[in-house]
Amino acid sequence: MNPSAPRLPFDPSSRSRLTRRDLGRFPDGSLFHAIGRAVCEAECLPRKELFEAWEVARRVRRRFRGGRIVDLACGHGLLAHILMLLDDTSPRAIAADIRIPISAAKIAEAMVRGWPRIEGRIERVERRIEEVDVGPEDLVVSVHACGTLTDRVIERAVAASARVAVLPCCQDVRLCATGGLEGWLDPVLAIDVERAMRLRLHGYTVRTELIPHAITEKNRLLLAEPAAR
Ligand SMILES: C[S@@+](CC[C@H](N)C(=O)[O-])C[C@H]1O[C@@H](n2cnc3c(N)ncnc32)[C@H](O)[C@@H]1O
Repeated sequence: MNPSAPRLPFDPSSRSRLTRRDLGRFPDGSLFHAIGRAVCEAECLPRKELFEAWEVARRVRRRFRGGRIVDLACGHGLLAHILMLLDDTSPRAIAADIRIPISAAKIAEAMVRGWPRIEGRIERVERRIEEVDVGPEDLVVSVHACGTLTDRVIERAVAASARVAVLPCCQDVRLCATGGLEGWLDPVLAIDVERAMRLRLHGYTVRTELIPHAITEKNRLLLAEPAAR
């Protein structure tokens, strides 16, 4: 990077791909910057996916340790990788998507190069959400599973009494339940509130958080675990 060039603001919500040109944006010794440098080397990841995955993963790991990670509708699968790095007591992870991007392999290679201890522990599979086995010790996660896909992720976790963390998006007021709350709440918010309440009805302890709005407007993080755990 030319040191005399003016530094443009680095918008974390940008969909531009991170490339080697961005390496200088991640200069320090922190884990986040190390991950940033790894994905820059892969030259395929939209910038916002790095920030989203990091912000979700660190909040999830504050609440939920261990367990097999089940990253549903995973896209590039970076979330599964970061969750493994943040807690090595998770033995393995499965990252499933109906259509895994070809470049997901580049992300996996870059992450394994940086952290060889995760080699062979994260399986990428082209599979529908409904086709992934989920067990009670698993940690089910999903970032931006569009519309009713988030509800299907929650259903899979509840059916297995597994812990779950979702960052919903594209709430569809025609297809997603609003719980009758749309008279008081913005319907999109009502859909997420109804999801939280549904999890409580299933005996889950629910926690709601936000990731920074500067990364995504779809920033509501819903974390839930069976109260009996
Ligand atoms: C908005 S993308 C999110 C990807 C990734 N989690 C992320 O945060 O970048 C939604 C993903 O859901 C996947 N998808 C759609 N329907 C699916 C299904 N029935 N089962 C599994 N994945 C599905 C798509 O292929 C896409 O990768």
